[in-house]
Amino acid sequence: MNQYLDVAIAAARAAGALVRENFGRPLTVNTEEAHDIKLELDVRSQELITKLLLEKFPGHAILGEEGSEENTSTDFEWVIDPIDGTVNYFYGIPHFCISIALREKGEIIVGVIYDPIREELWHAERDGAAYLNDKPIKVSQSREISKSIVSIGMSKTMAELEIAFSIFKDLMARARKCRLMGSAALDLAYVASGRFDAYIERSVNWWDIAAGVLLVKCAGGELSISPSTIQSGKISLIAWNGKIDRDHITKTYP
Ligand code: IPD
Ligand code: CA
Ligand code: CA
Repeated sequence: MNQYLDVAIAAARAAGALVRENFGRPLTVNTEEAHDIKLELDVRSQELITKLLLEKFPGHAILGEEGSEENTSTDFEWVIDPIDGTVNYFYGIPHFCISIALREKGEIIVGVIYDPIREELWHAERDGAAYLNDKPIKVSQSREISKSIVSIGMSKTMAELEIAFSIFKDLMARARKCRLMGSAALDLAYVASGRFDAYIERSVNWWDIAAGVLLVKCAGGELSISPSTIQSGKISLIAWNGKIDRDHITKTYP
């Protein structure tokens, strides 16, 4: 196992244990918005992950939802979501995860996603297979949107919600089922595992998706990644099994 993957898995497991032991306990809310919540535990989880990564690789840069540590003298950057699915977590819904990826010169070379409740750990390395609890995984075989499960990310602002709702409305009629799960990283891990046939979100950040993007690629899926037209700086993403015709997923919107 490569040294980076090893450390990423150890950090994801350590943060997962911290997050799991606090699940269901009283939590400190740092900020509250109409459609989002940020917790003191998000920050604590990122601090723990950052400490474990930088202990081994002191020169590496960090891009995290709870803060970044830039370093222009390195090619390596860790991309961290310390809790993906914080709103689920806060409301006691056991669907959230830790997501850690490593980019080298901008290319994702390691991806780890850990669901501490189900004890499911996904990992992948560039040019390798994708694994769930050390067993190789593959995307689904579904070829028709009418027989597919599509997960849709709704993001957070009213502008994002409106677009996501139009996608949801269209796909509800054409797919077998749509799902709104509340964790972008797990949505991608589920596409990689063949549980979902596709996942769409028109406005996400790299920390939500970096690890999952590598998982989907290594599991044989396809990705369409472009700048979000809703919010500048964010990303529009479609991840699917590569077997459904892309135009059938995105019928009425670009
Ligand atoms: C959010 C979740 C959600 C997605 C949002 C993300 P957070 O991340 O992944 O499913 O729709 O776009 O921001 O805030 O729980 O880390
Ligand atoms: Ca996130
Ligand atoms: Ca988060």
